[in-house]
Amino acid sequence: MHVIEIASVHKRFGARVILDGVDAVFDEGSIVSLTGPSGSGKTTLLGVIAGMLKPDRGTVTYKGRNIFRMGDLRRSRLRNREIGYVFQSFNLISDISAYQNIVYPALINRTARDISQRVRHLIEYLDLGGIIRQYPASLSGGEKQRVAIARAMINRPSVILADEPTGNLDEANGTKIFSLFRDLAREQGVLFIVATHDKNIIQYSDRHFHVENGRCADATPVPVKRHRKATS
Ligand SMILES: Nc1ncnc2c1ncn2[C@@H]1O[C@H](COP(=O)(O)OP(=O)(O)O)[C@@H](O)[C@H]1O
Ligand SMILES: [Mg+2]
Repeated sequence: MHVIEIASVHKRFGARVILDGVDAVFDEGSIVSLTGPSGSGKTTLLGVIAGMLKPDRGTVTYKGRNIFRMGDLRRSRLRNREIGYVFQSFNLISDISAYQNIVYPALINRTARDISQRVRHLIEYLDLGGIIRQYPASLSGGEKQRVAIARAMINRPSVILADEPTGNLDEANGTKIFSLFRDLAREQGVLFIVATHDKNIIQYSDRHFHVENGRCADATPVPVKRHRKATS
């Protein structure tokens, strides 16, 4: 099923055209990598998909609903419950602990259930037990990133948008994050759209889109056909 469909999306900042007619569909349970040179518009596109940045033209549909036709309250609720976002610069709240940052989106979600169990699971899986009471300023880049990822997952969203989520992680932690994404995609049908330069993520993603010159092109490699040797 297409979870997200974007059609003819245009976005400019002042006179600069950033997105110049982007069309794409993204399916349930898949990991999509989004590449492109710095400044090409990857973060802008993620912001549009998340409903945070209104395009000048074009539509973004989430499970058949045009998100920019909704009122602000409905769109905010949709974002809170259905769309997790891992910001490139983390955007953690500085005067509450890592634990409180992770739980925060669940506190404003009246439909959230089993929050404490969920948060325990994320802390364990992302190996955050040792730092959970600390404030963001005292965390390393990798720790902040894992807290930001846990926060994006707390409400069990159907879609997770991640802006260079492994950029600050060492290889072992990067691999772990990717395998968590993979498990959630396979087991719970979560769609991941990941802006990244990470070769492993690009290689193992289900789809690969490349943003450049205002366009977003499907760059998924065509599987190489294996020619079986004729057996006699
Ligand atoms: N709010 C903004 N106002 C003006 N220009 C912006 C704004 N956000 C992004 N840009 C510009 O749009 C271009 C694309 O930015 P971005 O989407 O962040 O690229 P990427 O994530 O691919 O590096 C950049 O040149 C950036 O400077
Ligand atoms: Mg960016």
